[in-house]
Amino acid sequence: VVARTTAPFIYLAPLKSITDSLFRRVFGAHFGGVDAAVAPFINPQRASSYPDKLVRDLLPERNREITVIPQILNNEPQGFSALARRLHELGYQEINWNLGCPARQVVKKQRGAGLLPHPDTVCRLLDTVLPELPGRLSIKMRVGLHDEAEAAALLPRLNDYPLSEIIIHPRLGDEFYRGLADPDRFARCMTLTGHRLCYNGDIRTMADYLRLAHRFTGINRWMIGRGLLADPFLAETIKGESTSAAPRKRRLAAFHDDLYTGLEEQMSGPGHLLGRLKQIWCYFIGAFPDKQQYLKKITRAGSLDSYRRAVEQIMS
Ligand SMILES: Cc1cc2nc3c(=O)[nH]c(=O)nc-3n(C[C@H](O)[C@H](O)[C@H](O)COP(=O)(O)O)c2cc1C
Repeated sequence: VVARTTAPFIYLAPLKSITDSLFRRVFGAHFGGVDAAVAPFINPQRASSYPDKLVRDLLPERNREITVIPQILNNEPQGFSALARRLHELGYQEINWNLGCPARQVVKKQRGAGLLPHPDTVCRLLDTVLPELPGRLSIKMRVGLHDEAEAAALLPRLNDYPLSEIIIHPRLGDEFYRGLADPDRFARCMTLTGHRLCYNGDIRTMADYLRLAHRFTGINRWMIGRGLLADPFLAETIKGESTSAAPRKRRLAAFHDDLYTGLEEQMSGPGHLLGRLKQIWCYFIGAFPDKQQYLKKITRAGSLDSYRRAVEQIMS
């Protein structure tokens, strides 16, 4: 057991088109241990007012279950500020800036991880946006796009700004999701910043958490994405709760059923519904270690009927 005076703070990570408000609501209704969620990014266009569509998933009535921090993916101060104001009007006291998305079309436009080699652009946005920002700002970043030297150049400069926190995913943008998040890189980042830090990346088991918590005794904030989809009990376990096998199975099944019902209402048509469910199962199958062979049945299901049959086999 790691001796800490306060309980660890655990974020559900943003996973675009997975951890939307419906997922967060259903997850929060069935599982504990998560203190807050960073929402998947929204990308402001050049405009001073925002179509409700862009912020629909962040409307307060959809986000009562888990505390949410909206995330912006952009590099353009006017659009950023206008969206930040809109989010503040909706009641959000904190927003997060995405400096980590590695997708090629994002990086090409110098957004997400594409900003990491350009500390001047990052600072210019902060210089413009922060003085007028009505709430707090945190950053979620990788350790570089091509090279860790990028974080080493950027982090000391970020010390000049009043950020609430920096969430570090210690991979390079160029690595996408290959290999493992590297704690040594995180350790090097720690020496370069005075900001509060949160560790993110490849926390999949209690043993992963304990290894990191023992190593980084000064860190008490953790962000978990895929690990929580593969083991929805992980945050509870980290907080010291344990659940035996039978209720675990029941709770996983109830979670799936509620998510299915919600998605059925939300998605337009069975094709989209099936697509989303398959995407979730690529991670969720981790919760059924002795049923890995059924994932293929799910990913190959051509209809909701065959999908449901495969799920029954997994849950039985
Ligand atoms: C499908 C998918 C979608 C993601 N979408 C976002 C996003 O919208 N914003 C963001 O900051 N990170 C996004 N990420 C990165 C995760 O938030 C997280 O940093 C990464 O998965 C490492 O954490 P994990 O190993 O706990 O999942 C995404 C990752 C995946 C796999």
